[in-house]
Amino acid sequence: MTDLKTLESDVLAQVAAAADLAALDAVRVAALGKTGSISGLLKTLGAMSPEERKTQGAAINALRDAATAAIADRKAGLEAAELDARLASETLDLTLPAPYRRKGSVHPTMQTMDEMVAIFAEMGFAVAEGPDIDDDFHNFTALNFPPKHPAREMHDTFFFNPKTNEDGSEAERLLLRTHTSTVQVRTMMSQKPPIRIIAPGRTYRCDNDATHTPVFHQVEGLVIDKGIHMGHLKWTLETFLARFFETDAVTTQFRPHHFPFTEPSAEMDVQCDRSGGEIKIGQGTSWLEILGCGMVHPNVLRACGIDPDEYQGFAFGMGVDRLGMLKYGMPDLRDMFSSDSRWLAHYGFSAFAAPNAASGLS
Ligand code: DAH
Repeated sequence: MTDLKTLESDVLAQVAAAADLAALDAVRVAALGKTGSISGLLKTLGAMSPEERKTQGAAINALRDAATAAIADRKAGLEAAELDARLASETLDLTLPAPYRRKGSVHPTMQTMDEMVAIFAEMGFAVAEGPDIDDDFHNFTALNFPPKHPAREMHDTFFFNPKTNEDGSEAERLLLRTHTSTVQVRTMMSQKPPIRIIAPGRTYRCDNDATHTPVFHQVEGLVIDKGIHMGHLKWTLETFLARFFETDAVTTQFRPHHFPFTEPSAEMDVQCDRSGGEIKIGQGTSWLEILGCGMVHPNVLRACGIDPDEYQGFAFGMGVDRLGMLKYGMPDLRDMFSSDSRWLAHYGFSAFAAPNAASGLS
C-alpha cells in the first residue's frame, strides 16, 4: 500500500511539474501507457487471489483514476495558458488600414494588343477576326503554300487527329492556326476591295525558348486597293512603330525574306540591347525580329477571288508579345505565360488605363 501511495504522489508531482503539453504527455505515457508504471500494476491483478484482488484492485484503480484526472486537469490548464499566451501575443490592431489585397490587372500582352489596335484604328484600319481552330486551306493552301511543301512543316503546326469519313476514308485534319494570316484569306473572300484591316489574335506553334512560346499573339495587317506599293507598307510600319514606342529613337532594319504569300517579302527587326538580363530599345547590338511583311502574292489574290491586275496590296504580321517585351523591358517571353502573380503585379496594367489616341497609350 505504501508503494501505491508513493507512486501516486510521484506521478501527481510529475504532472504538476510538467511545464508544457509535450512534457505532460511524456508523464502520461510513463504512467498510463502500455508499459507505464500504473498499467504494469493493473496487469498484476490477473495473478492475484480473489481476496487480494478485492483490496488491491480497488486501490490500483483509484490510483489510475487519480492519475488520469490529474493529467486531464493539468492538460486543460496548460491549454488555457497556451491560448492566453497566443491571445496576448497575436494582437490585431483594428485601427490600422486594411492590408492591400492584389486585384486583377491587365496582362502586358493584352495592353500591347489594345495599344496596337488604338494606333491602327486611328490610321483607318478596321478590326477583323477569325477562328483559332482552322483548316489547311485558310492556313496554307490559299496563302500559296504548295501541297506537301516543307514550308508547312516549318511552321511547327499543331494538327488535330484526322476524323474519319463515313466511308472510312480520312477527313481533313484541322489545326491550330500558326499565324493570323488566315484572317487575310477570310477577309478577302468575304469583302470587296478596298480593304484595310488588322486582325489581332492568338497563334500556335510547337516551339519554346526565350523568344518563342507555343501560344503567342499576332496582329495581322492587310491593305488591298488600286496602286498600292512597298512605299505604303514602309510608311505604315514606320509610322506605327514611332507611335507605339512613343519615341523617334527606334532603329529598324528591313531584311529580304521569303514568305509564300508575299512577293517581295521582308522581315523587320528592331535594334535593342539584351545585356544584363534586360531588354532596351534604341541602343545595343542585338536585333529582335518583330514582323514579317510584303506585297500580297498574285496567287493569294486569285485564290481569294480578287483580280491581281486590278488590285494590289500589302500585308504584315507582327508579334504582339515581342513588341510588348521590347516596350516594357521584359527579357524572357516565357514569363508572359507563367502566371506568376509577382510578375503580373509588377508588369500588369490598370484596367482603368485603356489606351487611346487622345489620352495616351501606356
Ligand atoms: N504569317 C507570317 C508569320 O507568321 C508573318 C507574315 C509575313 C504575315 C508576311 C504577313 C506577311 O501578312 O505579309 O510568320
